[in-house]
Amino acid sequence: MSIHINAQPEEISKIVLLAGDPLRAKFIAENFLSNYKMVNHTRNAFYFTGYYKDKLVTVGASGMGCASIGIYSYELFADYNVDCIIRIGTCGAYTSELKLFDMINVMAAASESTFAKYAWGIEENVIPYQGKAFDIISETAKEINIPLLSCNIHSSDIFYRKDFNIPQVAVKNNCLAVEMEAFALFANAKYLNKTAATLLTVSDVIPTYEKLSSDQREISLLQMMNVALEATLKIQ
Ligand code: HPA
Repeated sequence: MSIHINAQPEEISKIVLLAGDPLRAKFIAENFLSNYKMVNHTRNAFYFTGYYKDKLVTVGASGMGCASIGIYSYELFADYNVDCIIRIGTCGAYTSELKLFDMINVMAAASESTFAKYAWGIEENVIPYQGKAFDIISETAKEINIPLLSCNIHSSDIFYRKDFNIPQVAVKNNCLAVEMEAFALFANAKYLNKTAATLLTVSDVIPTYEKLSSDQREISLLQMMNVALEATLKIQ
């Protein structure tokens, strides 16, 4: 047990997929895992552990923002000895060159967040993916013929703001899209010497105001889960 997760130590796999939304974690367990069991429901942050093919995986909720994923990913890595976390999320595209449903394997997360600096003394405001999962995810997508692009993204602390211009940190680091969690996940993995990757689907294109409907989000999730879960078979 950790402060925010009440699973027993053996109830969490060494590889964890984290979605922002607890109900998305439930959807993944119901649709992809066999012999799964709910192992945490503290704060309704649901975690399920079960089998994808012959691989034991845990899928759970990170919540929204660096503060929340910072807590869950830290406890998974440090208290449950998790080796690898793959975040599965959505992002807003800063450019109309990206289209709804495009899938991104995140190369590096740039942020104005002070999380990495004040948590771990990491001064950089751009943190790359950690470990081998990124390459395995890219190879897997190629093998199963699912288009996947790689680029930098902006991990913002802010969803609503008065200024509609793309923030400086995103422009400077050539970030094509924005989400709110990868930076803290990568920071924790870097400090703890663990593996972390982030797979994102474009759910909205900011300059054109296009958005996925909730049904479309579900379809996009299926494709992203397929890549992430097939990749887990080759990790470790
Ligand atoms: N901003 C931040 N996070 C997001 C967005 C966005 O527009 N879309 C999906 N996640």
